Amino acid sequence: MSSGKVHHKIVQKTGETYQFSEKTLTRVREIIARYPEGSEKSALIPMLHIAQEEFGGSLNANIMDYIASLLNIKPIEVYEVATFYSQLYLEETGKYVIEICRTGPCVACNAEQMIGHICQKLGIEDGETTLDGLFTLKTVECLGACGYAPVMQVNTNFHEYLTEEKIDRILETLTSQAAEPQKEEEKWVEKFCLKK
Ligand code: FES
Repeated sequence: MSSGKVHHKIVQKTGETYQFSEKTLTRVREIIARYPEGSEKSALIPMLHIAQEEFGGSLNANIMDYIASLLNIKPIEVYEVATFYSQLYLEETGKYVIEICRTGPCVACNAEQMIGHICQKLGIEDGETTLDGLFTLKTVECLGACGYAPVMQVNTNFHEYLTEEKIDRILETLTSQAAEPQKEEEKWVEKFCLKK
């Protein structure tokens, strides 16, 4: 007989604890302070992007609980958002997550051919990660850059008007830079702190 309890993998807890670095915490507090007292939840999506990046590329229950405590909201409010958006990852990802658009306007501009080319170059299918842990491929719905189709996003960077040659150059550059630390200006925390 069922115990009546649901143990979904996203809420399985581990003994690990997570805390942003002091530098990130300073930036995170700046972002949270943009919203009125009591509306800190509005900073949830930026927080999840930053946490995902700082804590190894994906989210787990302990990370989400930490974010809930930072924003003074219930963990379930974080789980709801993290399980809804394709840009938030609950499974381990590669160092570079390639999100390539598969919606109509991009498909009309050869997106399917570009997707096939990436699969063939990396030896993976949609949703998979290369054995060296460098690349994860995800096909996604409109990235909001239809006028520049076909389009893909790799971590925080957009790449537009894709061709097979352009994709080859991007993958080669990323592979050659893989051992280097991530550039500060390319981190989500810096993107969210950009002054308008
Ligand atoms: Fe591809 Fe909008 S349809 S970015």
